[in-house]
Amino acid sequence: MTSVLTPELTARWDEPDSFTRAAYRRGGGYRALAKALEMNPDDLVQLTKDSGLRGRGGAGFPTGLKWGFIPQGDGKPHYLVVNADESEPGACKDIPTMLANPHALIEGIVIACYAIRADKAFIYVRGEVLHVIRRLHHAVAEAYAAGYLGSNILGSGFDLDVVVHAGAGAYICGEETALLDSLEGFRGQPRLKPPFPAIAGLYACPTVVNNVESIASIPYIISNGAADFAAFGTEKSKGFGIFSLSGHVTTPGQYEAPLGTTLRELLDLSGGIRAGHRLKFWTPGGSSTPLFTEEHLDVALDYESVVAAGSMLGTRSLQIFDETTCVVRVVLRWIQFYEHESCGKCTPCREGSYWVVQLLDQLERGEGSEADLDKLLDICQNITGRSFCALGDSIESPVKSSIRYFKDEYLEHQRRGGCPFDPVASTLFAGELV
Ligand SMILES: Cc1cc2nc3c(=O)[nH]c(=O)nc-3n(C[C@H](O)[C@H](O)[C@H](O)COP(=O)(O)O)c2cc1C
Ligand code: SF4
Repeated sequence: MTSVLTPELTARWDEPDSFTRAAYRRGGGYRALAKALEMNPDDLVQLTKDSGLRGRGGAGFPTGLKWGFIPQGDGKPHYLVVNADESEPGACKDIPTMLANPHALIEGIVIACYAIRADKAFIYVRGEVLHVIRRLHHAVAEAYAAGYLGSNILGSGFDLDVVVHAGAGAYICGEETALLDSLEGFRGQPRLKPPFPAIAGLYACPTVVNNVESIASIPYIISNGAADFAAFGTEKSKGFGIFSLSGHVTTPGQYEAPLGTTLRELLDLSGGIRAGHRLKFWTPGGSSTPLFTEEHLDVALDYESVVAAGSMLGTRSLQIFDETTCVVRVVLRWIQFYEHESCGKCTPCREGSYWVVQLLDQLERGEGSEADLDKLLDICQNITGRSFCALGDSIESPVKSSIRYFKDEYLEHQRRGGCPFDPVASTLFAGELV
């Protein structure tokens, strides 16, 4: 049994009033803000760079570097937009963070805005999570009442307003430029880059877009110092983060641990695969990252090691599947999601996702042929790198990796003329395929 947990953002989630300002203060909250407001904003940017914090929204871009791109003395308004859209299948860390610990996010927002010299911040939150939106509104009101938001924050002369904005529930609005279009009142579709948001973001002004967890990690870094944070994790993937375990594990949930922790260690902590079953396949970073299998149990879950092993760390959304699961059916469900969420702006993704679903559906029903696997891979290859945004590229990952590791299972569907895992056949065949 390992003890790699480093609860910080998740430390007080079990307390009944964890979401209140009083509980947050009890745990030392808002001290980092007082410290930050006495520092030079440029030093805060440097401290964030030194901590090695990389964006927790999936791409892992260095947070301090991103802040440093905001031009200073340009006379334009600057904005911070917190990406709280969390919609990737398997991702479920930002929503519980905002539900149980919204003041860590608000404290991080004030510090980040002070660092980039912004006086307006937006939290773009998924519209479906009404309970989270209510919590955020409540926490923002509490922060205004205590003088952590508004004019002359803690007597520093710094002013900041925060707006909680509910989106309408489109996955593409998590892509940062589609999010900005949506926030401006347009249909959420990705923008051509460059210019990047740091130069022309919200209302064509310099804007930082950061993930909830990235911003909520800032108070710890200010309080404890860059070196403390950088002491966790691996050489290039510093610090700790939330690993979301879902699916066939004994105790699914959020496990906050240093980057570089392995799935084997996380399974130790979560009670292992559900009783009587064994691991078949898993995603290290949500449905848009290539599948892993049992052979990857000891891959260090940091950005570099996961790429070296053939996948991506993404949002650390570990979806775990045991031997009772049909991999073809799971991949079909994911691609149906991408087809549904494709914004339609570019042809490879809009049309390609449709055809990939048709082929997978046939294959899953046992009506395809081996040649369809080559056709699938060919279509995927023509989507990746030819689409306007990363949603299109996501389609290839589960398809290609599942064929790589489970080609026999695809072919078994064709041999049997149906899914060997369907409710009747599953008891007969499930064990044979893994
Ligand atoms: C289709 C799509 C959906 C995305 N959804 C999210 C999301 O829900 N939350 C998020 O933080 N980043 C999401 N991203 C990544 C953002 O574009 C962006 O990289 C991120 O918000 C930057 O924050 P970070 O640097 O703090 O990670 C998505 C990207 C794509 C292509
Ligand atoms: S890749 Fe898909 S989601 Fe992205 S712009 Fe093109 S159609 Fe829209």
